[in-house]
This record gives sequence, structure tokens and C-alpha cells, in this order.
Amino acid sequence: MPNDTTQDAHLTLHDSRTGREFELPIVNDTVKAMDLRQIHAHLGDFGMMSYDPAFKNTVSCTSRITFIDGGRGILEYRGYPIDQLAERSNFSDVCYLLFQGELPTPRQSAAFKTQMTEASVLPEGIENVLAGVPRDAHPMAVLGTLMMALGCHEPGAKDVRDGECRRIHSLNLLAKTPLLAAMVWRHRINKPLIAPDPSLSFAGNFLKMVFAEDESYEVDPILERAMDVLFTLHGDHEQNCSTSTMRVVGSSEATPYNSAAAAIAALSGPLHGGANEAVLRMLAEIGSVEAIPAFMEKVRNREAKLMGFGHRVYKSYDPRAKIISEIAKEVFEVRGRNALLDIAVELERIALEEDFFKSRNLYPNVDFYSGLIYQSMGFDPAYFTVLFAVGRMAGWIAQWDELMADSEQKIARPRQVYVGERGKTVPG
Ligand code: SDX
Repeated sequence: MPNDTTQDAHLTLHDSRTGREFELPIVNDTVKAMDLRQIHAHLGDFGMMSYDPAFKNTVSCTSRITFIDGGRGILEYRGYPIDQLAERSNFSDVCYLLFQGELPTPRQSAAFKTQMTEASVLPEGIENVLAGVPRDAHPMAVLGTLMMALGCHEPGAKDVRDGECRRIHSLNLLAKTPLLAAMVWRHRINKPLIAPDPSLSFAGNFLKMVFAEDESYEVDPILERAMDVLFTLHGDHEQNCSTSTMRVVGSSEATPYNSAAAAIAALSGPLHGGANEAVLRMLAEIGSVEAIPAFMEKVRNREAKLMGFGHRVYKSYDPRAKIISEIAKEVFEVRGRNALLDIAVELERIALEEDFFKSRNLYPNVDFYSGLIYQSMGFDPAYFTVLFAVGRMAGWIAQWDELMADSEQKIARPRQVYVGERGKTVPG
């Protein structure tokens, strides 16, 4: 922990323009940007601000949900290491943990599952929204459309300052998101909807809703386990792009459905959640292990990115990627080895050895191997990010709820440095 536990830890700034000195208190190894405001070049100035494009070095909140140590490759939900949660818990209990701050007792776990089952119903006729949506529309666009449609049926969700209202709609979003995701898939493959099955786990029920032809469908326990762990691994990841979007939109007191639709939009980008789809397209484009050297040359020349590698926070191996690569082996045992795996393994070997990648801390991230598993399960690449969203909904909701209860938070409204022209006159 940083050594600012002493009461008077502070930064002393000297402004060469005025000769004045300022002391900024240091708390949690940060200084408050608002403390810069007292620094004026001239009387009457607005005061100094910090310039931080893409918020690369900006803390937007305090949080008790997820801890990441990017240098050491550590990820914890509410203090529990991700590998232990993946191995010893299940996604439904991890959702409870993210919401409530502690793992549930068996009674609490059963009660939570019952509440989820009761909320696992979609509004009558919501699928009519898809009547005009092409079957080959991008699944993330379809999911966002359905999320906004769901919100049309929840007028009571506007009371976002009321804790009970947030609890009801958080549960509603968590229970209904897999149903919306299944509807996206069934629309894409032009198959009728399969009703949720409360006798199954969260992951088992989801697999049945997407893959079943009829009620005789049997969930494969290996695939169920893999899906459950993948949902857990995608559960939350502190202030990533889509979670920050959930918080920014939520800060205007928008409903959680509108905020979730915005988070879905943010996640769809290939630099974020869309990377799992981009990885599969990259592996297919490379086509063979023999073609890797030519592709890597393009990456070195910045003509292509090595999708599924690199991370804004992890400057070491993403702990989730390690777990996913283990799950891949279990899935391939059941579903057959994915031919693209050889290309992926060779890409990783080169990236972990070569200075171009090592000097840029380019390690595999959560998206590198997940797509290989999803494809082996039977999903097409365009749908992979919807699977990411089903898991991440738990984190988006937990972070939104924490934001709404945080007295330090206000509507998000960054500033700018204006570098354009001034004082022009309209002719006339
Ligand atoms: C997720 O934030 C989260 O927590 C996200 C996430 C979550 O759970 O929510 O973990 C999920 O989004 C994982 C990331 C998935 N995205 C990809 O795999 C896309 C490929 N990765 C890159 O686009 C990139 O690594 C980012 C976007 C992930 C991070 O980029 P940064 O931190 O903005 O770093 P950068 O773009 O400034 O790159 C620094 C250097 C540059 O080289 P130079 O110009 O300095 O020479 O590294 C290079 C970049 O060109 N670089 C890459 C690269 N990533 C960075 N070069 C080739 N391939 C890459 N993938």
C-alpha cells in the first residue's frame, strides 16, 4: 500500500508563472484534480485542470467491488481471487457476491436463484421488436435494441435514487439478460424461442435456451461448467470502457436499462469486448502456422494489431486468459480440437519471446482464447461479444448501484482545452 498513511502526506507544487507554492494532499496515492483549481495564472482565471485523454491516468471513483493489480496479474471480486471463484463457486453465487459484497450462504444462494427464476420472464410481445431487424444484423446491435425495448416495459425504473427500486431492476436485468441474449441467437438462426428451465443452473439454462431443438435437450456438463466459468471470468473488471459508460450514463439518473444499452454499445467495439470476435477473424485470416511470420511482420509495421493481446491495466499475463486456456482443453476434449488453436498457441509463443511485444507488455488478454471455446461450442464469431455481455451485466449493475449510492458522485461532465478559432464575425 502507498506510504500516504501519514496524516499530512502531500504534493508541493511550485507555479513558475507566479512563484506561488501549493500543497495538494495525497490520499490513496492520488491527488484530487479539484485541488488544482486553486492554481491560477492570473486573477479571475477558472483555475488549473488536468489534461488526460482517454482517462489513462484518471481515477473516477472509489469502489469496493473489483481489485486489479495489473503489474502482478491479480484480479479479485470483493476480495476473493478470480481463480478460486472460477474453481470453487458458480456464476449465480458470483452475481450475489458482486451485488451484496459477500458470497451467499446456501439459504441465501437458493433464495437468490428463486428470485432470478421469478424474474426470468420477458414482457409479452417484446420479440416483435425484431420483426424489422435483419437476421444477419450484428448480434450486439440486436442485444442493444432489445435492451432498450425491455426498458420501455419498466417505467418504474426511473426512481434510481431509491435502493429498493435499484434492487428490483438489478435483479430484473440480471435475470432477463440471458433471455434477451438467447432471443438474439434464435433470431439469428431463425429458430423459435425455448422457454427458460428453472431446474438448470444459470449457464445450463442459457445453453438450453440457445441450442435446444426441443425439451429433450440434455446440457453437456463439461460445456455447462465451461460456460459458467466464462460468465464468472467476465463478471466485472473495475472501470473498463463499458463499465465507465454504464456509470457515466447512470450519473445523469438515466434508467439502468438505458445505461445498460449504452454499456452494450461500448462493449461492442473491437478494442474492447468485440476483440473476441476480432481474434477469431484474425486467426482465420492468418489461416496457417506457416503464415504467421508474414502476419507478425504486419503487426511490427503497425499494419495490423495482434487482437486479444495487450491491456490498458494488465502489464503481465491476464489472469483470466490463463484460466480460459485451461477450460479450452476441457471443451476441446468434448467438442474436438479447434484447428485454429495451433495458430493461437504459436502466436502466443512468439509474442511472449519477442522484444517488440515484450517491450510493449503485450500478453494475451481475456479475449484471446475465449472465442476458440465459443466457436467450439457452436456459436459464430459475431455472437461472441453477446456472451461477454451476459457475464458483464452483473458487474455493470453492481457498479451502477455503487455509483448511485456514492454521495461523492455527481453527473459526469469532463472539460476540454479549446484550441479552435475565436471571435469570428458572421458576414452580413
Ligand atoms: C478488454 O479495460 C478492461 O478491463 C477491458 C477488459 C474487460 O474485462 O473489460 O479487460 C476487456 O477489452 C480486453 C482488451 C481487448 N482488446 C484487444 O485485444 C484489442 C487489441 N489490443 C489493443 O488494441 C490494446 O492493447 C488495448 C486497446 C487493449 C490497450 O491499448 P492501450 O492501453 O491504449 O495501449 P496503446 O494502444 O497505447 O498501445 C501501446 C503500444 C503501442 O505501440 P507504440 O505506438 O507505442 O509503438 O502497444 C502497441 C501500440 O501500437 N499495441 C499493440 C497492441 N496493443 C498495443 N500492438 C499490436 N497489437 C496489439 N494488440
